[in-house]
Formats: sequence, C-alpha cells, structure tokens
Amino acid sequence: LLPSFVKVVEVGARDGLQNESKVTTEDKIALIQNLVDAGVKHIEAGAFVSPKWVPQMADSKLVIESLDHSTAHFSALTPNLKGAQLALDSGIKEFAIFTAASEAFCQKNINCSIDESISRFKEIMTFANENNIKVRGYVSCVMGCPYQGDVEISEVVRVSKLLLELGCYEISLGDTVGVGTPGKTEQLVTALLQDIPANKLAVHFHDTYGQALTNIYAALKLGIATVDAAVAGLGGCPYAKGASGNVATEDLIYMLDGLGINTNIDIKRLCKAGWQISGVLNKAPASKVSLAFQAN
Ligand code: HMG
Ligand code: MG
Repeated sequence: LLPSFVKVVEVGARDGLQNESKVTTEDKIALIQNLVDAGVKHIEAGAFVSPKWVPQMADSKLVIESLDHSTAHFSALTPNLKGAQLALDSGIKEFAIFTAASEAFCQKNINCSIDESISRFKEIMTFANENNIKVRGYVSCVMGCPYQGDVEISEVVRVSKLLLELGCYEISLGDTVGVGTPGKTEQLVTALLQDIPANKLAVHFHDTYGQALTNIYAALKLGIATVDAAVAGLGGCPYAKGASGNVATEDLIYMLDGLGINTNIDIKRLCKAGWQISGVLNKAPASKVSLAFQAN
C-alpha cells in the first residue's frame, strides 16, 4: 500500500553544499528561493556546526536570516547547545539533531560517543521546548558504516527510540554511504515499525551505489511517507569519504509523479533550480531525469 502524499524534505542546501567550497551566500539564498518557487515546503537550509569542522556552512546565519519564513518550513542542523542558540538567533523554527547507529562514525562526525550525543541532545531539547522549536532527529549509518562496516538493525532501533523518547517528532534514517539494497531496507523498516509508527519515520538515502530510488520504493511500500532528497543529487558527507549525494529530488519526484503520489512540487521548476546550482558548481546535475528532460 503506497502513500497518497509524500512529504519531501529538501536537503541539498545543507547536505549537498556542506561539501562544496565555491558556493557564495548569495548562491545558497538563490537556490533556496528557487526551491521554494518550485513548491518545496520543507527545506534544510544550513548547519550550525563548528566552522572549523565544516567551513562550508559557516554562513548559515546569513542564509537563514535572509529567508521569508512564511513561504516554507526551514530547518538547520544543531549538533550542540551552542549550535542551537545560534540557530534560534538566526530565526530558525526547527532544529535537526544528528547521531549515528555506528560508534565509529559518531566519533568522526561529532567527536563523541552515541551515548554522549544523547546527553548533549537533552540540553538542546530543553532549550527547544522553552522556545517552541520542533526537533527532527537523524540516525546515520543505518545500513552500514564507512569506518566499522556492518551496523546491527537492533542498534538503529535502539538509537531511533532514544531520539523519539527525547522528543523528536520524526526520525530520519540516514544511509550515509548509500550501501543499502531494497531487501535490507525492507528488513530495517519492518524492524523499526514494530516499535515506531510509520508517520514518525523518514528515509534519507545517499545514492553512492545507485540504490537510493529502489530503496525508497521499498520504504514507501511499508508506509513511509517522508523522504529526504537533494536537488541535482548534490553532496556527500565530509566525514564519509567517497559517499556521493542524496537521491536527486528531480528523480524522486519523477518516480512519485509516475506512481500517482502527490508532492505539490513542480518538476520542471525543480530541474531549473538544479541546473542553476549545478552551473555554480560547474557540473551537470547528478539527476538522470534532469538530463533526460534537457535532451528531449
Ligand atoms: P568539538 O571540537 O568536539 O567541539 O566539535 P568543542 O565543544 O570542544 O568546541 C571546540 C570549538 O568549537 C570551540 O571554539 C567552540 O566554541 C566551537 P574555540 O573555543 O576553540 O574557539 N564550537 C562551535 N562553533 C560554532 N558552532 C557550534 C560549535 N560547537 C563548538 N555549534 C562538534 C564538536 C559537534 C561541534 C563538531 O564535531 C561538529 O561541528 N561536527 C559537525 C560535523 C558535520 O557537520 N557533519 C556533517 C553533517 S552530518 C551528515 O551529513 C549526516 C546526515 O546527512 C545524515 C546521513 O546522511 O547519514 C545528517
Ligand atoms: Mg546525509
């Protein structure tokens, strides 16, 4: 049974651009405006992480301050209380906290253990509640880790439940390196659904091995109706070497349109947004659909 509507969370301006050094603040603002014009309603617009760790996101405050917050729901990554304070000051109304189902990745990415990350998040959650901020939770490496290899499904379930208990309204399941396959996706989502309702889960699949769309389809069939994607297939995580971008939003929308699943996103305008930012990066979009539209 497929959902009739899918909420698309566009992460290109964050997950996509956190790996790109030649993008100006104006380029980022233009990208987000183009996404809004295409009908995208949920946009991760930046990250209040350490500028020493990820200098590409150091201008998130400038980007977010410039946005018209009545046009879409904008969120930003907040790894710790300092990040949360900066995010609130910029006008953001939704935080995204992020940890992993792999100790090795957690350490490399946010310099602490999984359990330490959960204690940091408790402070963020109190602060968020005081300020009426919604909090989304990410679990990275749900299908495998670039450092430790296999990741147990039971660990993904454990960490997801911890984030929900903290008060996250939704858990985004990150296949950080894109190693998952549809059978694995089915096993993972089925296990999570024993304890967590489908409307609290999202999938966040990178496309390194070309499996993201088919994995998303497997998740949709199990009732998942929130999908993260990056326009033009932008990106990769600086702490996951070799990982390519998220599934391209254009390819996702083409598949959903074909399945008769509504998103309220205009695919042609979305493709334009993808070409625009790809031009800045001096490359073609990593979206087969966008390339096919261009050729036909
Ligand atoms: P740390 O070095 O352990 O932090 O980093 P610290 O608390 O020891 O502080 C060190 C310095 O950083 C201090 O400054 C702090 O003030 C400053 P100093 O006294 O040396 O001048 N600092 C900050 N500055 C600005 N904003 C902040 C902040 N925090 C501390 N928020 C930390 C720990 C978590 C900050 C660091 O490891 C970090 O920023 N990590 C983020 C890495 C990152 O952005 N990764 C990519 C995003 S996650 C991802 O892509 C996966 C995802 O897409 C899902 C998936 O695909 O799986 C979400
Ligand atoms: Mg990611």
